[in-house]
Amino acid sequence: MAGQAGKGERSGDTGVALEVKDLKKHFSIHAGLLGGSRGAVKAVDGISFHIIKGETLGLVGESGCGKTTTGRLVVRIYEPTAGSIVFGGSDITHISETRMFPFRRRMQMIFQDPYASLNPRMTVEEIIGEPMEVHRIASNSERRERVLELLELVRLNPEHATRFAHEFSGGQRQRIGLARALAVEPELIVCDEPISALDVSIQAQIINMLQDLQERMGITYLFIAHDLSMVKHLSNRVAVMYLGKIVELAPSLELYDRPLHPYTRALLSAIPIPDPAVEAERHRVVLQGDVPSPINPPSGCRFRTRCGYAMKVCSEIEPELREAGGGHTVACHLPV
Ligand SMILES: Nc1ncnc2c1ncn2[C@@H]1O[C@H](COP(=O)(O)OP(=O)(O)O)[C@@H](O)[C@H]1O
Ligand code: SF4
Ligand SMILES: [Mg+2]
Repeated sequence: MAGQAGKGERSGDTGVALEVKDLKKHFSIHAGLLGGSRGAVKAVDGISFHIIKGETLGLVGESGCGKTTTGRLVVRIYEPTAGSIVFGGSDITHISETRMFPFRRRMQMIFQDPYASLNPRMTVEEIIGEPMEVHRIASNSERRERVLELLELVRLNPEHATRFAHEFSGGQRQRIGLARALAVEPELIVCDEPISALDVSIQAQIINMLQDLQERMGITYLFIAHDLSMVKHLSNRVAVMYLGKIVELAPSLELYDRPLHPYTRALLSAIPIPDPAVEAERHRVVLQGDVPSPINPPSGCRFRTRCGYAMKVCSEIEPELREAGGGHTVACHLPV
């Protein structure tokens, strides 16, 4: 079953699961029927990162920064505009749908909205069984058996198999979505804000489940969130994204202890600290205004219109990601 199959094969493997280089996605804007292209939404505008097998890379940033687009590029829901995606050693950047098919089994995505992402008119068994059918995994009777095992794995009652998706709560639907993703025993799961729409009490259950599954099956996660507090415990490393770019990337603890980019500091500052004494003493950096338009991003550093430290050079030269020691990289003109 799903739980045992991956265990021996993947544990102790330190290879790279995914490597993304200078990846871009520009959505062209068309001016009605007669007009040509009127520019582009630079949703993802040149990002590079890798994820080690069995690791979780957190991807955080405010809404509109390009996180979902990044996730959809990685699993090739979107065709990249530029750059490369290497998954398990294979370049999948522009391969055809036919050649992509076997990779579809190896990489899955779970979505933010558990209400929109599951067909309400399908039974739980049909929803979870569908990817197995598509990928011709197991016979009909074996499939049924596996659906029940998968339901147990995500701690849902196997008796729920014959019910319809609309009968379940948000947290239960997210578990069904997870069971569906796990059905094909993927190596990589892109989790696109899977807990943002859920109650706080349910969020912890889903996080614990994702961690437990990772330990048992060696799954690699790209875990997307808009809030740094959500990825802290789950991620080995965290990438912070702003307006189509990665502005900082570091091991999780290092990022929380020593945030270098003013944007990361502002995001961290938004997280409440449970101790009232510490909370009263702390210096908050409040993020002013909204994320500018990705159609026409600010020159130089894209964060400069909201940065309290902006200097002349910030509008003239785009800061490149540079090493700051300890696997920590940052894109800012301020001295490290
Ligand atoms: N299919 C699309 N067509 C045009 N613009 C899009 C499309 N998808 C996303 N965008 C735009 O790209 C930017 C990044 O969006 P998204 O990746 O959804 O960000 P996030 O997930 O961080 O909120 C936003 O400005 C969004 O409006
Ligand atoms: S490069 Fe300049 S504007 Fe950008 S974050 Fe650093 S100090 Fe602020
Ligand atoms: Mg999103």
